[in-house]
Amino acid sequence: MTTKLTWHGHATLGLETGGYKLVIDPFFTGNPAADISPAAVQADFLLVSHGHGDHVGDAIAIARRTGATIISNYEIASWFEGQGVKKTYGQHLGGGHKHPFGYLKLTLALHGSMLPDGSYGGNPCGFLLTTNEGKKLYFAQDTGLFGDMKLIGEEGLDVAVIPIGDNYTMGPNDALRAVRMLEPKVVVPIHYNTWELIAQDAAAWKVRVEQETNTKVIVLKPGESYSV
Ligand code: NI
Ligand code: MN
Repeated sequence: MTTKLTWHGHATLGLETGGYKLVIDPFFTGNPAADISPAAVQADFLLVSHGHGDHVGDAIAIARRTGATIISNYEIASWFEGQGVKKTYGQHLGGGHKHPFGYLKLTLALHGSMLPDGSYGGNPCGFLLTTNEGKKLYFAQDTGLFGDMKLIGEEGLDVAVIPIGDNYTMGPNDALRAVRMLEPKVVVPIHYNTWELIAQDAAAWKVRVEQETNTKVIVLKPGESYSV
């Protein structure tokens, strides 16, 4: 069984694996790059990397409608519970847990995490998923470059999903350095072209990465998928 990854624009990703539907950072309303409306989203699990509005997104409305479980750091999971979300699951940086869809570990991210109402959102995170079929997928979400990406790469990544937009996260140059440390088989760039401020030429970045590393770059358009 394959794992299907779909980019919905910005840092919003759908993942179908082992018969489960996951959405990472479900930002649809107000996301000019989104290819679908939040009402069309099906989910069993929602993964939220940090408290910023462009990542919390429509998580509450989708969880209410679908009954999905929201997984995040402990502070954000507790905040969602306080917002009336019935099923939440809190983990923390470096901690992994065996969920029905696979083993999920929360990884470091260099970023902020204040929630939309100003509440404390703990530390931002990325996600390292080992699927039930043994594939390893790393979702960096919002982060600057950090040297411990080397440690994440040591796990042997099939896919890394990393930001290239600059300004709020790594830009193209640091994202290339990230690929050198992560050494994934495939890298998918995200968190760019949502707004003018984070506009980037992903096709040019693909050429550079494929010239300078052994990693293959998959540039998706919003709504497009890649099967792992
Ligand atoms: Ni952010
Ligand atoms: Mn962001």
